[in-house]
Amino acid sequence: ASTLAAAAQQSGRYFGTAVAAGRLGDSTYVNILNREFDMVTAENEMKMDATEPNQNQFSYGSGDRILNQARNQGKRVRGHALAWHAQQPGWMQRMEGSSLRQAMLNHVTQVATYYRGKIYAWDVVNEAFADGSSGARRDSNLQRSGNDWIEAAFRAARAADPGAKLCYNDYNTDDWTHAKTQGVYRMVQDFKSRGVPIDCVGLQSHFNSQSPVPSNYQTTLQNFANLGVDVQITELDIEGSGSAQADNFRRVTEACLAVARCTGITVWGIRDTDSWRAYGTPLLFDGSGNKKAAYNSTLNAL
Ligand code: XIL
Repeated sequence: ASTLAAAAQQSGRYFGTAVAAGRLGDSTYVNILNREFDMVTAENEMKMDATEPNQNQFSYGSGDRILNQARNQGKRVRGHALAWHAQQPGWMQRMEGSSLRQAMLNHVTQVATYYRGKIYAWDVVNEAFADGSSGARRDSNLQRSGNDWIEAAFRAARAADPGAKLCYNDYNTDDWTHAKTQGVYRMVQDFKSRGVPIDCVGLQSHFNSQSPVPSNYQTTLQNFANLGVDVQITELDIEGSGSAQADNFRRVTEACLAVARCTGITVWGIRDTDSWRAYGTPLLFDGSGNKKAAYNSTLNAL
């Protein structure tokens, strides 16, 4: 196969990218998008601040541009993200307790209902666990509204769009021995045992020298899959260049391919210059849209 999407499809997987609405007028960008990818995540446009800038006033223009561009090209869409401590609108940042809980559940319900039938998988809750050695939840206004806020969000999302896969998504959950990975694992295990609706776990997989691709990455993917959920690599980028970077992308791709329930890989942008970490040149295409060594190693591993 000669594109990432076609190569991924050979094993029934997808290959996606984050898309920014503001770049849809850039023909180099759109050409690569249309050619290489078969799954799209809105980089910012479906987040809480974008979709509910004022309480109970929903705004879907930018999200719709990305969704419609993708669907017109026959691509599927991952929804990102219904509930998160970051990129909350100001009005929500100032809320707490049961009124926040109600506002969060209303947000989940409204946004998932608006997009019902059009989203392959939703990141229902993003980044709810703490970094460091505690393995505990992250402190946030949502967490302080009650420890069951995550399962409440998942139940609301299921009711609003029964056809979408519902995912928990996080970063620094790639190393199996990491306390944060274990914390997420125990939550998913608990949800499955109690029938809380969860279908998938997303590993963001933002890698750099401080946070390299762990040697046990495939073990982590397999252990989550063994809980009875799909796993997806949802925001892949790896800082570096040349053959070292190419090797890391190959390792990540091979790990996914080795796990039956690893259903797809999404990179967090198209060209290095599109990346939120552009200084680290962490993507598969250079600033001019040329394929990098990392592109070739990824394609060959699919
Ligand atoms: C990032 C976007 O790429 C940036 O444009 C934005 O300024 C901040 O958010 N984890 C996530 C993504 O789940 O939503 C984040 O995206 C990167 C980290």
